[in-house]
Amino acid sequence: MTPAFVIAVDGPAASGKGTVATRLGRELGLPVLDTGLLYRAVGVLTQGAGEDPDDPAAAAAIAILLTAERLEDPALRTRAAGELASRVAIHPGVRAALLDFQRAFAHQPGGAVLDGRDIGTVICPEAPAKLYVTATPEVRAGRRWKQLTGQGEVVSFDDVLADIHRRDARDGGRDNAPLRRADDAALLDTTEMSIELAADAARRIVEAARARWEKSRSG
Ligand code: DC
Repeated sequence: MTPAFVIAVDGPAASGKGTVATRLGRELGLPVLDTGLLYRAVGVLTQGAGEDPDDPAAAAAIAILLTAERLEDPALRTRAAGELASRVAIHPGVRAALLDFQRAFAHQPGGAVLDGRDIGTVICPEAPAKLYVTATPEVRAGRRWKQLTGQGEVVSFDDVLADIHRRDARDGGRDNAPLRRADDAALLDTTEMSIELAADAARRIVEAARARWEKSRSG
C-alpha cells in the first residue's frame, strides 16, 4: 500500500485550525475531515436521545452507531453543540469508537487533512506533516463570537471567552488524548495573523514537510 501523505492540524477551539485545514485541502486537492464534528454529533445525538452526555456508556453507545451523514447537520455548528462535544470527548469509550473512522479517512489513497485535538498525537502519530495552530484566548473568543453571531446566535463576548477558557481546561486536562502539541508539530500562532497569512504560513510548513517526506521515501 502506498503510504498516505497525512496532514495533522491540531489546536484549541477557534484557533483557526479549521480554516487552515480547509485551505490546505483545497490547495493540495486532499479531502478534509473536521474531527470536532464527530464529537459534536455524538454530543447532540446523546442529548437528543434523552441520555446524559456525562454518562460514558450512553455516549459511547451513540458513538459506535455514528455514520458520516450525521456530520452534515448545521446544528452541529452551534455553541451548545461545542460544549456537548467537549463533554462527551472526555469518555475513553467515545474516543475509541471514533478511532477507526478517523484512521481510515487519514489513510485513503493520496492522503488527507484532519483537524482536531489529538490527530498528531493519537490518531496519526506517524503523519509526515503536523501543525499545532493556536492564538490567545481573547483573539479566539473574538473569532468564535463573530462566527456565532453571524449564524444568528445571541451571545456576549464575555460568555464566549468563558466558554473558550472552560473548553481549554477540559480538552487539555482530560486523561485520555488531551490537547497538546506533538513534539514534531510545527507551531503556528495566528494571534496576529489574517486568514491569508495563516494559510500561507501553513502551506509553507506543509511544503517543507512534503519535501522531507518524499526525500525519505526515495532514499
Ligand atoms: O474543534 P471543535 O471546536 O469542533 O471541537 C469540539 C470539541 O470536540 C472540543 O472541545 C473537544 C472535542 N474534540 C476532541 O476531543 N478531539 C478532536 N480530535 C476534536 C474535537
